[in-house]
Amino acid sequence: MRIATCRAEDIALLDRHLPSPSATSYHAQRYAAQVAGRSTFLVVWVEDRPVATGEIRWDGCRAAEVRAVVADCPEINGLEVVEPLRSQGIGTALVRHAEQLAAGRGVPTIGLGVGDYNHRAAALYARLGYLPRVSYLDRYTYTDDAGIEHPVEDACVFLSKELS
Ligand SMILES: CC(C)(COP(=O)(O)OP(=O)(O)OC[C@H]1O[C@@H](n2cnc3c(N)ncnc32)[C@H](O)[C@@H]1OP(=O)(O)O)[C@@H](O)C(=O)NCCC(=O)NCCS
Repeated sequence: MRIATCRAEDIALLDRHLPSPSATSYHAQRYAAQVAGRSTFLVVWVEDRPVATGEIRWDGCRAAEVRAVVADCPEINGLEVVEPLRSQGIGTALVRHAEQLAAGRGVPTIGLGVGDYNHRAAALYARLGYLPRVSYLDRYTYTDDAGIEHPVEDACVFLSKELS
């Protein structure tokens, strides 16, 4: 397993092996944010196959409720491991890699949001030392195959961890 920053030529492989749930490619959007300097888009590879992704949003969580409580806190977002390879330590390795990149930039605190329904992910983050800070609504839209945009609101908790 190796973890690398996403390159333009990785997008097609990511779309094939980790398809986005809507018509718009999340991978293309995340790569564009990285090119714009707002994030680092990480890809985990097993041999020549991408098996997991995650991004570090250096400008932090977009939700106003979070920004009011946790200032200057980059956010780990979009963690996903392909289903057959879950529970083998890949998610843990990805979070730790993101923490090391943040610590290398002198960032004191890093955070992430987890849906209220996602108990398994929440247990993993608690084990990794993340503490709950604030409840918020994660608001985003997705575009269906007919090109229609749908607004979504997910009840979440933002967690953070001090990096020493
Ligand atoms: C949440 C997610 C990213 C975690 O990634 P992961 O690779 O499964 O996480 P890890 O393997 O590091 O740790 C998870 C579990 O594996 C166990 N584990 C870790 N290393 C292991 C190993 N070598 N062998 C067996 N089990 C191991 C951990 O104890 C943990 O236990 P659990 O099954 O009770 O939760 C992944 O499950 C996923 O993609 N879920 C769907 C999308 C999602 O919910 N994303 C998070 C949004 S906040």
